[in-house]
Amino acid sequence: MGAYESIQNGRNGPALRVALVYMYTGFILFLLMGLLGLLMRMLHAELLRLPPQWYYRLMTLHGAGMVAAALLAAMGGGIAATSNRLTHDLRWLWTAYILYFVGVGLVPLAVLFGGFAAGWTIIYPLGVAYASGWTAWSTFAFLLGYLLVALGFAAYCIAMLQAVLRRYGSLSRALGWPVISGRAQPGEDVPYLQEVVATVVGICGLIAVLAGAAALVPYFAHNLNLTGLVDPLFVKEMIFLFGHTAVNLNIYLAAGLAYASLPAYTGRPWKTTPLSALGVNLVMIFVFLPYFHHLYQDFAQPVFLSAIGQFGSYGVGVPALLITVFGGLTLAYRSGMRWAVPTILTFVGFWGWVFGGIGAVVDSTIAVNQVFHNTLWVPAHFHTYYLLGAVALTWAYLYHLATELSGRHESRTSRLAAWLYGIGGAGFVMMFFTAGAAGQPRRFAVSIPSTGEQTWAFLATLFVLVLALGLLWLTYDLVTRLGPAWARARGRA
Ligand code: HEM
Repeated sequence: MGAYESIQNGRNGPALRVALVYMYTGFILFLLMGLLGLLMRMLHAELLRLPPQWYYRLMTLHGAGMVAAALLAAMGGGIAATSNRLTHDLRWLWTAYILYFVGVGLVPLAVLFGGFAAGWTIIYPLGVAYASGWTAWSTFAFLLGYLLVALGFAAYCIAMLQAVLRRYGSLSRALGWPVISGRAQPGEDVPYLQEVVATVVGICGLIAVLAGAAALVPYFAHNLNLTGLVDPLFVKEMIFLFGHTAVNLNIYLAAGLAYASLPAYTGRPWKTTPLSALGVNLVMIFVFLPYFHHLYQDFAQPVFLSAIGQFGSYGVGVPALLITVFGGLTLAYRSGMRWAVPTILTFVGFWGWVFGGIGAVVDSTIAVNQVFHNTLWVPAHFHTYYLLGAVALTWAYLYHLATELSGRHESRTSRLAAWLYGIGGAGFVMMFFTAGAAGQPRRFAVSIPSTGEQTWAFLATLFVLVLALGLLWLTYDLVTRLGPAWARARGRA
């Protein structure tokens, strides 16, 4: 309800405009990157043919672009959802956007014109020009792009921390510790749950960015011939500490958007209780543990760290997922909730988060990972908790925001479009799971006949077209709402 109250109070119009820019940019980027995803599915279905190196280019651009798009849109949602009670420093938010935008812009240049194709995780030494065969300028452009995106995210985290500190005076109050400990006085100004999320993401995001910097420094140093080979395991640790953490934070940011929007449809507030605040706070510990599951196959990694990876992966989702999904279900139960595009997408989001989470738990079990490692099971689980989880929750909030601000009503067809998103998306990820279980390797330009991948990719293509149909309609709605929504945010500035 944040943005709506904000508009009613006539406050923070400028912050809402920044939020709209973040979210619409993220949405457009998502559509473009989705087209590349469709192309890759068509290549595996052999409905299209391209030289194999193009598969790896498309995959690199799609992976990096999608992660950036989803995070940017969720960051924008985070601004809008807290805009009624927090005062954001617009200079930091615009700086974050510009850094992010320029950084994201360098990635297609590096990939499409420079041939950079190391995958979005640029496993060392793939991001070193002479070691890997990419042109030197494209390698630099890609690394610089990542650096700017990381700096943009850091600027955003600073802006959010500044905003919560301005209101609550200390991080402990912004994290809801007085509520958790039962020491909050009656009538005390306690943070909304989405503000607790903003604080947690701000703190963990800055730590993740430091890890990203620790990974990028050796890349730059090696490319400039200032150093020889750096310990590849160290670089991989830092890359995943940054990448995996950023991706996880994206999910929590998106969950925070449901805390802000669902009450508008159920008529019940999503309260900050000791349990819900504790659940969000626990993210600060758990979010740093699962990344070790990316290193099970690295024999030089000490075994106890792999064990932490396994149990950390089991634990990471539990607190936040339980309070979000059970919280959402209890909020909706017998509330007379109005089914609308945002509520349909929010419940698709809950399903995707749970189902993708189960896929992740299976694969993060060391014994299973010996078999499923680097098969399509991996993109299966993360596409489920992304496309049908975090991203669905983000588009739910974007639609809610644009509709509330523009004052437009939604049609039945729009609701059908939201279902098409869910059905098309679910069919698409099921084909990834099936091919992965059959042994089709991930990051592989060709389909292996014995896995039946060509058939699974063909069926996936059909499901992606269903998803695209839903998206096309939602895009129409969002485009027609943008003008009035912008004007409303402007008028009350
Ligand atoms: C819109 C529908 C989407 C389609 C059709 C699609 C399709 C694909 C395909 C075919 C691959 C390559 C799998 C492989 O060969 O290993 C892939 C990889 C990937 N996708 Fe998607 N995807 C979609 C949405 C998303 C979303 C929403 C995200 C994240 C927000 C995402 C992030 C990624 C990442 C990170 C990779 C791995 C790239 C790499 O290994 O370097 N995708 N996707």
